[in-house]
Amino acid sequence: MHLGRVCGSRGRLALVYRPSMLPLAYPSGNRPMAIHASGVKKLLVSCPLTSPAHARVDSTSASERSMPNMPATEMPVDKSESRVRDMFRQVAPRYDLMNHLLSLNIDRYWRWRAVRRLALIDDSPILDVCTGTGDLALAIGRRVGPGVPVIGSDFCGAMLRIARDKQARQRSAPDADERPAVDGPVQFLEADSQSLPFPADTFQAVTVAFGLRNVTDTDRGLAEMTRVCKPGGQVMVLEFSNPTLPGFRQLYQWYFAHVLPRIGQALARNDKDAYRYLQKSVGQFPDGPRLVERMVAAGMTRVSYRPLTGGVATIYTGYKPEPVGGERTIPRGGVR
Ligand SMILES: C[S@@+](CC[C@H](N)C(=O)[O-])C[C@H]1O[C@@H](n2cnc3c(N)ncnc32)[C@H](O)[C@@H]1O
Repeated sequence: MHLGRVCGSRGRLALVYRPSMLPLAYPSGNRPMAIHASGVKKLLVSCPLTSPAHARVDSTSASERSMPNMPATEMPVDKSESRVRDMFRQVAPRYDLMNHLLSLNIDRYWRWRAVRRLALIDDSPILDVCTGTGDLALAIGRRVGPGVPVIGSDFCGAMLRIARDKQARQRSAPDADERPAVDGPVQFLEADSQSLPFPADTFQAVTVAFGLRNVTDTDRGLAEMTRVCKPGGQVMVLEFSNPTLPGFRQLYQWYFAHVLPRIGQALARNDKDAYRYLQKSVGQFPDGPRLVERMVAAGMTRVSYRPLTGGVATIYTGYKPEPVGGERTIPRGGVR
């Protein structure tokens, strides 16, 4: 989750690790997902599930338990599905408020930049995974208009309920801030990003904003995004990163360690665990060239990245290769 826009670097924060805080075991969380969006059902019925049946590995909690001497900040963060889903279920009602407040609204700008970088190739659908409360999916819907179906998927029903309510609110009472959504509404559906209920080569673009970091198996999440993307289509990741500029980096770490938790706790008293998770997950997530490598390994080509706001966040883009000898797909409006 991204309740704030700052991160700690590994080994710098004095977090106290208590093994008793870790659950002994997490259920696999590998439940089949309900499909809520009726418009999407049609698409699914005609297209049988094609996701490979991967074994689910709750490696993080096990590895935390098996490394008792490791400093807390170095412990792999527990990103088991059940833990992540439960955490977002708890913070869902306050998620948007906290996001905008703690980022000083810069998160809206980052999503706007992401939408601008979308490379559209035709009228086929666009998928936003880990859509949460739907901000990126709704912004994409506004950009592409009613002719292009947009789907937002997430495995946390509580977050999706807020996305649906937001869309309904925007459509009925648009104001300066919440502009009306497109005529053809965004469809929100419950699905695990590690086994998406779509056939291969379906979407002209697949996006994720501040979600990939939370997916238990990053590589599997990237592979699924690539699988459902059409050849020539774009995969985009917007994610926190670690600023590298001396001075700014230290300021950012100080804000993360001292300011953000205090504001956060004053506003949302029960979210201590979420802040601890936020710090660790951002600090431990691969950024810059390291994430580029993972995107290439997932099968993407022409992968590049652009840091935003001094490197606090970064937009990564890659493309699904087209078959050898096939025609190159030119994005609508040219290549940017
Ligand atoms: C930090 S929120 C980001 C929400 C939204 N994209 C945004 O820009 O604000 C991360 C979201 O990822 C979702 N998520 C994490 N792991 C997931 C998974 N394996 N499958 C589907 N959703 C997942 C969570 O439920 C949560 O809603």
